[in-house]
Amino acid sequence: MKLKWLGHSCFIIEGSDRIIIDPFITGNPLAPVKAEEIDVDIVAITHGHGDHLGDGIQIAKRCGATMVAIHEIAQYAASKGVKAEGINMGGGVKVGDTEIIMTPAWHSSGLDETNFAISTSPAGLIIKSDKTIYHAGDTCLFYDMKLIGELYNPDVALLPIGGRYTMDARQAAMAAEWIKAGIAIPMHYNTFDVIREEPEKFKKLAEEKGIKVLILEPGEEVEI
Ligand code: NI
Ligand code: MN
Repeated sequence: MKLKWLGHSCFIIEGSDRIIIDPFITGNPLAPVKAEEIDVDIVAITHGHGDHLGDGIQIAKRCGATMVAIHEIAQYAASKGVKAEGINMGGGVKVGDTEIIMTPAWHSSGLDETNFAISTSPAGLIIKSDKTIYHAGDTCLFYDMKLIGELYNPDVALLPIGGRYTMDARQAAMAAEWIKAGIAIPMHYNTFDVIREEPEKFKKLAEEKGIKVLILEPGEEVEI
């Protein structure tokens, strides 16, 4: 299975289905592609902030992809003509050969152009394809990450490390230890000045706890 980082919290997973998570491409200075070049079957969204929902609605419509998001965002997307499956914490849905399950995340969330008016819950996602991936979304460190590790045994954990709005490198290293994924990959850093962080700092701290860390460059693809 292939995993590609498009900068910020955006990843493309290619197993039997092609899935994009948090497609913030337009306006993302690290994005190595244009939103129009994306071709996927599933668009998975952790929360409604513009740097996560991003180009999701346009991509889902153009590709005829299914959007998977929390109930309210799925309803909003459906009102814009998107084929959408709403889920919520602890539940999930199977789309094609991929199962997507929603986990909690401690953060806030608005919705697209109504960002300030409509509040929705933020989330993390477990993506069960050929491998199991945990995308933590935007979140602080919370002890139930240990439970997420025990419940879903992820092969890969995608963790925010940029601080300010999410965990920083030190907290994310602790998260990686609790989740116990085979590989931890940092995200949500260095996109903007306010979330500057050294991924090597995360790598060093997590590896001291026995967790393997992979630092990707935007556009880099790895076989997992
Ligand atoms: Ni956010
Ligand atoms: Mn964010």
